[in-house]
Amino acid sequence: MIISRNQILKDAQLKTYAVPAFNIHNLETMKTVLDTAQELRSPVMIAATPGTVGYMGREFLAEMMKAATKRYDIPICFHLDHHENMDDIVTLINMGVPSVMIDASHHDFEENVRIVREVVDYAAKFGVAVEAELGRLSGIEDDLEVDEKDQIYTNPKQAQEFVERTGIDSLAVAIGTAHGLYKGEPKLDIDRLAAIQKEVDIPLVLHGASGLPVKLVQETIKLGICKVNIATELKIAFANGLKGYLQEHPDANDPRHYFKDAIDEMKKVAADKMKMCGSVNRG
Ligand code: 13P
Repeated sequence: MIISRNQILKDAQLKTYAVPAFNIHNLETMKTVLDTAQELRSPVMIAATPGTVGYMGREFLAEMMKAATKRYDIPICFHLDHHENMDDIVTLINMGVPSVMIDASHHDFEENVRIVREVVDYAAKFGVAVEAELGRLSGIEDDLEVDEKDQIYTNPKQAQEFVERTGIDSLAVAIGTAHGLYKGEPKLDIDRLAAIQKEVDIPLVLHGASGLPVKLVQETIKLGICKVNIATELKIAFANGLKGYLQEHPDANDPRHYFKDAIDEMKKVAADKMKMCGSVNRG
């Protein structure tokens, strides 16, 4: 079932849970996430970075998206993660993508506002929802790499102005999370999140959720986080399952067999994250 991003996130906001947004990379990973969501009746967002769109091919992605909405009857929303290029965004909106993150967070405030506003204005004609980031997360997400010293936390007052001037539907916040795995114990600025929630009434988004303790994520959900992005932990589970299978079956050559453990391992992580988000039985 296809459902608009605003509907999916507004329900989460109203009922204080979060919709997990999983980064996928191919048919197997997309199906694994969707099968798990269907089994647990969890609403879900399927996220694709520019790297994934390039790898899978736009046309395949668009058609798989359509096929998935026929096959499953839970709320599903496809989403472009960390897109920076307006031409790509326009093309993909025209192909039917219902939700977009424009990441202009590396620009200064005024330029970030200008770029995001341009995307919002275009997206509005198609009823497409837009997420943007204020502040800057550190870590590595596909081709996006930000050094720890360059991370910038979201300023709550500025967040309010940003939301008002851009007209975005949801705001990705920088409160100490990072893309990829954490080197030490992750420390989040929970007071800052509470201050942002006071200033901003649209759904908030937590990037970099891989490796965060469950309790900490749940604390952020109580403070307005309605979408939790997970990539790295799923990739690790899939890769470990695959490596284990190939070690045990060195002569394996049939992907229908050697993907089996990878899919099972990934399913477990996806299910745990849905439970963490409180999204089970909401779809
Ligand atoms: P992780 O890879 O840390 O889970 O982050 C995912 C993310 O935020 C995607 O935008």
